[in-house]
Amino acid sequence: MNAHESTDLEESMFVAEPLGVEDPRVHPAWLPPEAFRALGARRVLVHGDGLLVDTVLDEVTRACTRYGGRVWHSPSWDVEVDLVLTLRDADELPNSAVEAARSAAEAALVDVADGATLGDEGFLLARAGELTVVLADAPAGLLYGLFHVVRLCAGAFDPARPPELHRPALRRRMLNHWDNVAVHPVMGQVERGYAGGSIFWAGGRPRGDLARIREYGRLLAASGINAISVNNVNVGRAEAMLLTDRLGDVTEIADVLRPYGIRVHLSVTFAAPVVLGGLTSADPFDEDVRAWWAATTRRVYERIDDFGGYLVKADSEGQPGPFTYGRDHADGANLLAEALAPYGGVVHWRAFVYNHHQDWRDRSTDRARAAYDHFAPLDGRFRTNVVLQVKFGPVDFQTREPVSPVLAAMPATRIAVELQVTQEYTGQQRHVCHLGPCWSEVLRFAPWGPGGRTIADVATGEAGTGGGLVAVANTGDDLFWTGHPLAQANLYTFGRLAWDPRLDATAVLDEWMTLTFPPSATAEPELVRRTLHEIMDDSWRTYERYTAPLGVGFMVHPGDHYGPDVDGYEYSRWGTYHFADRDGVGVDRSRASGTGFAGQYPPYWADVYESPQTCPDELLLFFHHVPYTHVLHSGSTVIQHIYDTHFAGVEEVAVMRRRWQTLNGMIDPTVYERVAERLDEQVRCATEWRDQINTYFFRKSGIPDARGRRIH
Ligand code: GCU
Repeated sequence: MNAHESTDLEESMFVAEPLGVEDPRVHPAWLPPEAFRALGARRVLVHGDGLLVDTVLDEVTRACTRYGGRVWHSPSWDVEVDLVLTLRDADELPNSAVEAARSAAEAALVDVADGATLGDEGFLLARAGELTVVLADAPAGLLYGLFHVVRLCAGAFDPARPPELHRPALRRRMLNHWDNVAVHPVMGQVERGYAGGSIFWAGGRPRGDLARIREYGRLLAASGINAISVNNVNVGRAEAMLLTDRLGDVTEIADVLRPYGIRVHLSVTFAAPVVLGGLTSADPFDEDVRAWWAATTRRVYERIDDFGGYLVKADSEGQPGPFTYGRDHADGANLLAEALAPYGGVVHWRAFVYNHHQDWRDRSTDRARAAYDHFAPLDGRFRTNVVLQVKFGPVDFQTREPVSPVLAAMPATRIAVELQVTQEYTGQQRHVCHLGPCWSEVLRFAPWGPGGRTIADVATGEAGTGGGLVAVANTGDDLFWTGHPLAQANLYTFGRLAWDPRLDATAVLDEWMTLTFPPSATAEPELVRRTLHEIMDDSWRTYERYTAPLGVGFMVHPGDHYGPDVDGYEYSRWGTYHFADRDGVGVDRSRASGTGFAGQYPPYWADVYESPQTCPDELLLFFHHVPYTHVLHSGSTVIQHIYDTHFAGVEEVAVMRRRWQTLNGMIDPTVYERVAERLDEQVRCATEWRDQINTYFFRKSGIPDARGRRIH
């Protein structure tokens, strides 16, 4: 290291060893060293103490070591600096720069927020004379502020930059890993995982790669995520034991993620008192059961004092639950909540409850209705540390679903909205499918009618007491973390939207591109950016075009859920039918003649969805069974729409592939090759979708394509 490259460690009070993340075996995703160039070339002063302040120092030190900047930790002498990251209540320093920066930031805070507090995670970024200052009330705020500086690159040092206040809209921004400890005979190591094995577990044991977990925590923190559950919601024997005998494995993960402000949660089985505790019952009203949960939970907090809480899938798809004892979901959730309450923990209780042994002949049962029917009557009965975790749509993470009516039906319950970052139904990380626009639509949806409160408001809750945003993770031990390198953007976008649901999905994508493909690292930055936007911006709608039409859903291959199989679920027990016959297609969920599901919405949407005349085109077949000749608002008939969108979808994927080819030689060749290979598969699979769907509906309806294209 020559003098220019050295950091001022000797002069400063900072003595921590760099933590040695940045694993060369894995792709750096949105934190490549290059993204730290603007920061790393500057003179940086960090003031404050705490575990997360040490993380900030570590990040800054590594950047400055690489790019020739300098770092000081709370120096008690004057230094010239470009950036000050300081806690608001850190001791006064005999250092004029930091004190001037602090008072300028305080003044800016009065301007932008009337001097409001910044909270546990918020920060202010402002210019103070010649320097940039990040002010936070708590160490986590400083860490988020640092990552914001990284995101802004040189823009963070723009003298004209106005002050900005950043506080997360949602308190809990959580990822659920559906990772199994032991390899499941059908679902494998990671249920619905498309990115290799688990980061945490391998073949029944901890994977033992703590450096990788730490690197993961770093990526998550930089996107805004602050909570994670580390095992599948379907809890087997090995997974159940994480709560007791194998708690040490969880402690280890919690210790590694803590420096990045991420709290660990566990999926537990409702039958734990029986399975692990040797009791004869798991009845929530049984005193021994309550005592077991209390003692077990106490032991968890003795080892992990910032443990987040439990996640429970109960009475759902074969998982045990309170129904066995004649109790309801409020009784079940409150049992665990009571055990967690003394420590500030929460229960995330999932609302994904339905009859998975339905008879396809039975037209009166509607899976879409189930969550509302089970949970809406329980509003007001849950303890305050229960969060009801509701999938965004009423069925199951389909490419297009209406927003779940449960989200608007339980004003006296803390609600978390559950999204699926893992692309179970959206191309399984073999297809490019940027989900930001889908999630934005969900979060901006106003269930009480236009202009009213939104789904983001529900997740935020009154005075921030809502349950937050949760998503099923899409990561694994794959070189690129997510199998498809471009699927990294979905994880990043989830974190950013959880921090601020009002962000524009395309703007977030732009941020991700700038970090992941730094302009300074390619000869043609504008071409790379434009091409990525052309490929990704509308890719969710492209995916929608070549798969199940007009919100009808499923039509996927049973079991693995990849690729087309129009009737794959039509005569199954899973409750996901399309009812296509020679005259028409779709599910009648109206109040007047169908299952009545439309009536679960507040009046505005109940009326809109009730009639095929007012129902939005993209959801028509979710709510109505209509003839193939039904004319959509777009002016096309249903059958012609099916043909047109399926031909168009495949053409769009072919164009994506051609566009990607123009980037050959301009980006990291391993990324290029992986995406190129997956685009080949996307073209193949989209073609299969087009041909099976078009052929199926042509055979059913006998109506030819108005444009005479080839249908098989
Ligand atoms: C889907 C998915 C399952 C998962 C379930 C859930 O049905 O296919 O693998 O267990 O959702 O959300 O619990």
